[in-house]
Amino acid sequence: MTGVDRALSIGVVPVVVIDGEADAERLGAALLAGGLPIAEVTLRTPGALAAIRRLAEEPGLAVGAGTVLDEAQYDDAVDAGATYVVSPGSTPGLFRAARRTGVPLLPGAVTATEIMRARDEGHDLLKFFPAESSGGAAAVRSFASPFAGVDFVPTGGIGLSNLRDYLRLGNVRAVGGSWMVPPKLLSDPRGAGQLQTLIAEAVAAATANYDARL
Ligand code: 3PG
Repeated sequence: MTGVDRALSIGVVPVVVIDGEADAERLGAALLAGGLPIAEVTLRTPGALAAIRRLAEEPGLAVGAGTVLDEAQYDDAVDAGATYVVSPGSTPGLFRAARRTGVPLLPGAVTATEIMRARDEGHDLLKFFPAESSGGAAAVRSFASPFAGVDFVPTGGIGLSNLRDYLRLGNVRAVGGSWMVPPKLLSDPRGAGQLQTLIAEAVAAATANYDARL
């Protein structure tokens, strides 16, 4: 089992918008203390790569890069120490980078054709984004029968109130979301305690709902 598999088995992945090393240090500490040794750091801020670099130094933390849109960003993320790469969609360039670097890719797919293209490239773990506005849990459930062997990590509009709808599905490995890592708390040195509480709460909710599988 890789670090990513181990972390995904908790059932929830924090999707992080973070800017720089200082915030990353606090985030790393809160994730480990809250029992969630994984982060998907989105390349949406100027300091995202520096944050990945800092988090990658934490032993026991599986650090991925999210919102990776092209091959150049894939390479930057791998250089910074990301151990997996996530994209909202999928392109030939991303598939190429995954093969070339050997660093696992979770490509985004929400339609049957997108799933089949990713499958053709050898990917059987896909990001389902934006989950709630792409048909939600009902859509993910509908893909179980035609796409046996393909699993999803839905993100986008998921929180404590609806994570159960997804986690009970046999083809959902984990859900992702930003609700437990609000940017305002990440950038506030006094927010550490509250951050840890939100993270621990997300882990408890995921663990409680993971067993009730369809
Ligand atoms: C993502 O990239 O996965 C989303 O931005 C996370 O969606 P959320 O902010 O609705 O949780």
